[in-house]
Amino acid sequence: MSEVSDSEAIDAGAAGRADRAAQRRAFASRYALLPLRLFLGVTFVYAALDKLSDAHFLAGAGDPASFVSQTQAAKAGGSPIGFLLGPALDSPTLSALAVAFGELAVGLGTLLGLWGRIAALGGALINLSLWLTVSWNVSPYYLGNDLGYLMAWTPLLLAGTPYLSVDGYLARRAGRDRERGLTEEHVKRRALVDGGIAAVAIGGAGLLTGSLTRTFGRSGKAAPKQSAAPAPGGTATAPAAPAPSVAAASVPVGGSAQVKDPATGDGVYIVQPKAGQYCAFSAVCTHSGCAVDAPKNGQLYCPCHGSRFDAATGAVVNGPAVKPLPRYAVSRNGDKLTLGPQQS
Ligand code: FES
Repeated sequence: MSEVSDSEAIDAGAAGRADRAAQRRAFASRYALLPLRLFLGVTFVYAALDKLSDAHFLAGAGDPASFVSQTQAAKAGGSPIGFLLGPALDSPTLSALAVAFGELAVGLGTLLGLWGRIAALGGALINLSLWLTVSWNVSPYYLGNDLGYLMAWTPLLLAGTPYLSVDGYLARRAGRDRERGLTEEHVKRRALVDGGIAAVAIGGAGLLTGSLTRTFGRSGKAAPKQSAAPAPGGTATAPAAPAPSVAAASVPVGGSAQVKDPATGDGVYIVQPKAGQYCAFSAVCTHSGCAVDAPKNGQLYCPCHGSRFDAATGAVVNGPAVKPLPRYAVSRNGDKLTLGPQQS
């Protein structure tokens, strides 16, 4: 009798463990896409606010980080959707704002799980267009991050956002409405109207956040740099910053030392591509303004979209950048290398 009881207890214990394991697996399956959803949502909101707060993004063609310059570079780089970029360049400010606010809408929709499939479709289309433009010339292809993002949207596009989401809440409520005997047409209309109200509320909050970010971001980031030019009828307002210099010994052949352009504050690499030959190049990528890595194997590499520049000339070795890195003069005085003015 006792043996049977023990055996039953063991069986019951094993069944309980199997149950708990099955529950854990079901829980993990249910929320498997949550980390991806959080990552994509936060990244798109961050990218949108970053664009809206960056005065460079909405600047004109003279700024390599501007929407105009990036779009022109993509067109010149042989983008397969180059024919679509002409209209975008006709109204560059509107197009740039549409990109930023589109990213914000996608990010918020994904995070909150409101019309999750539509948000995922929007995200996939944005990354598809970025892959076919700014990342098109990245080689090998897997270094272009937009293709990776495009693939990352696919699971959300297929599965939607049914858990921990507005969509989930609306679906549960629609189920209750059906149980109450409401017609299918009524249930669908109610879900659509409430989803629309939530979308308008979230969109309004997004617009407000984006507009505030743009306003305050602009005043913060686009603050005019201190000028040494004389004030009207007066003398210079600030002394010119001394030219940066480094010890020649700190720039070995093939190596570099980084200084700052005193006029802009941007990084500049002083390099020695061949023994005794010193030159300097801006560390700001001409594609869309990321900081390029220090020279290695005769090239400067931009980690954002994979552009490569010749460390001896600054010329583009590999796009998507199409313009060379701006060059600076360098003078040597004894063991000291001094950065001169920008030459190109
Ligand atoms: Fe795009 Fe450098 S910023 S390649």
